[in-house]
Amino acid sequence: MKRRPIKDKIHWLGAIDWDRRLFDSLIPLPDGTSYNAYLIEGSTHTALLDTVDPAMLDLLSKQLDGVATIDFIVSHHAEQDHSGAIPYVLARYPQAKVVTTPKAKALLMDHLHLPEETFVTVADGEILSLGDKTLRFIHTPWVHWPETMVTYLEEDQILFSCDFFGAHIAASDLFVTDQGRVYESAKRYFGEIMLPFRNIIAKNLEKLANLPLQMIAPSHGQIYDQPAWILEAYRDWVLQPPRNLVVLPFVSMHGSTRMMVDHLTAALTERGVTVELFNLVVADIGKLAMALVDAGTIVVGTPTVLAGPHPLAAHAAFLANALRPKAQYLSIIGSYGWGGKTVEALAGMIGNLKVEVLEPVLCKGMPEQTTYSALEHLADTIAQKHQESGFR
Ligand code: FEO
Repeated sequence: MKRRPIKDKIHWLGAIDWDRRLFDSLIPLPDGTSYNAYLIEGSTHTALLDTVDPAMLDLLSKQLDGVATIDFIVSHHAEQDHSGAIPYVLARYPQAKVVTTPKAKALLMDHLHLPEETFVTVADGEILSLGDKTLRFIHTPWVHWPETMVTYLEEDQILFSCDFFGAHIAASDLFVTDQGRVYESAKRYFGEIMLPFRNIIAKNLEKLANLPLQMIAPSHGQIYDQPAWILEAYRDWVLQPPRNLVVLPFVSMHGSTRMMVDHLTAALTERGVTVELFNLVVADIGKLAMALVDAGTIVVGTPTVLAGPHPLAAHAAFLANALRPKAQYLSIIGSYGWGGKTVEALAGMIGNLKVEVLEPVLCKGMPEQTTYSALEHLADTIAQKHQESGFR
């Protein structure tokens, strides 16, 4: 695919990765992804904003044919899916300078072994003139690494946001055409990598709040030519209280834990609490991350195996602990065969979560009436806590 104009003297370059199904050897990509770079040709200077994943360097290389000069390579983020082709671009345009934050300079030197003299670092709010086009760099740390920044193109009112507002979608249309689909993908992306940093992201959103914006051009997914809704979605995910939602990742070995999960789900539903179940044997952890964006309560359902939680439940607890969602309550339910320390082991894995732990419900073997009564009580407690907390 050739480079494509998005406005006068502004082109999209990059790669649409239709086939990729996993990011970071961890995150599912059901819709593929893209690595977007942008070429801005001012009257005096030309800037390339980000590059592509090195696996797709050939595409970028062809798109640069006919581009006589690049004066600046703006690197918003040092992760290699955007920075990995910088060494190639520098080799092709040896006079170019890499424009980035001081923190990104250090990271790019670590990750790509770029020489120090290649860099020009920019302060928060600093301006770079390309002649008739003006780039303003805005530091937006922790979306989702510490060094990240965005670029505002003043004359065209375009925000080049890199991972911020991104969505893992492979699509031939350059601009968003299906808002519902992009909303889901962007929320999944937010849940997977941005969620732990939402307090800092709130400050970043404030910094952007007064910018007149015609477009947001991220480095994954499609360009927002009506950007108000994605800004509003981020404000919702970052700032709003949790929803009246229980997220219930579970695993069952012989069916007893599943019986408990089903009973609790029905009891919560009867009490007006929404429940999302994730059978961890088959669950898409991206969907789990997305649900955690809104969860008021997390309930982990696990049998006891080898005297502790099932490894799949431990994996889910580890992820939830790393993602630090805004859930305020947590409980554990499950069946055990003969004994063990499942609750203690799981409780030791969730130190990052600022949650009140509600009385776990464990049973030996198949659940019986006392187990179901305890689950009903847990449902009562959750419904009451959600109401008292004002969850939406
Ligand atoms: Fe798309 Fe954090 O790299």
